Amino acid sequence: MRIVLLGAPGAGKGTISKLLTAYDGSVQISTGDILRGAVKAGSDLGKKAKGYMERGELVPDSLIMEIMEARLHEPDAKKGFILDGFPRTIPQAEDLKKLLVKLAVNLDVAIDIEVPREVILDRLTTRRTCANPDCQEIYNVKSKPPSPDGKCLKCGSPVVQRADETEEAITQRLETYNEKTAPLIGYYRKEGLLKTISSLSSDEIVRQIIKTMNQK
Ligand code: AP5
Repeated sequence: MRIVLLGAPGAGKGTISKLLTAYDGSVQISTGDILRGAVKAGSDLGKKAKGYMERGELVPDSLIMEIMEARLHEPDAKKGFILDGFPRTIPQAEDLKKLLVKLAVNLDVAIDIEVPREVILDRLTTRRTCANPDCQEIYNVKSKPPSPDGKCLKCGSPVVQRADETEEAITQRLETYNEKTAPLIGYYRKEGLLKTISSLSSDEIVRQIIKTMNQK
């Protein structure tokens, strides 16, 4: 499958991407994970991105397109991809369209995951993530806790809270989403690629995505 996952911070894009990857082997490409890896590694990209991320603002489009151009040319992307957190602005969506023409592939669908704001706020303050960059399993202290001593159930690494999970950064991320990313819903509707799914169950969302793919 070749899909874009839209949805506010905390809508469950990362969780759903991992379930879809397990379903058919398409690769999850999360710009957030790539950027957090770069910040941790202290690379040039990480140094440029760190401040924007901690404030809950978007990293400049030019940096993101450099990452994505390289990532989508990697051989594993030929199996199919789930774009988690990209595109996030209209210029990114337009550049993605051109990039896919260059790669001679089509996008199957853009999924908008709709979740009420109060649920999102609760999920973001209770999320924890595996600190191992090769794992990054997502946990939630209420719905999917790590081990009692705070370790990842998959790889045993410490499970931590993200740097952009302060109340201030969460509020800013939601504002940024409404202003810059929500307009992509209209963009993909016009492209005839939009499918909206309103559900609080990850399994139900995955079931609906697979059903949509099977109808293509
Ligand atoms: P990014 O990492 O993409 O963050 P985000 O969009 O804010 O999304 P999240 O990862 O917070 O949430 P999610 O929707 O993946 O939810 P999750 O599955 O974890 O980006 C971080 C930053 O990087 C941005 O702010 C920006 O600075 C920069 N950036 C990234 N991409 C960029 C781009 N393209 N352009 C410019 N800048 C960019 O779930 C959340 C919680 O809920 C978890 O605890 C989970 O366990 C729980 N949960 C999920 N589903 C359910 C369920 N069904 N029931 C109960 N709990 C659930």
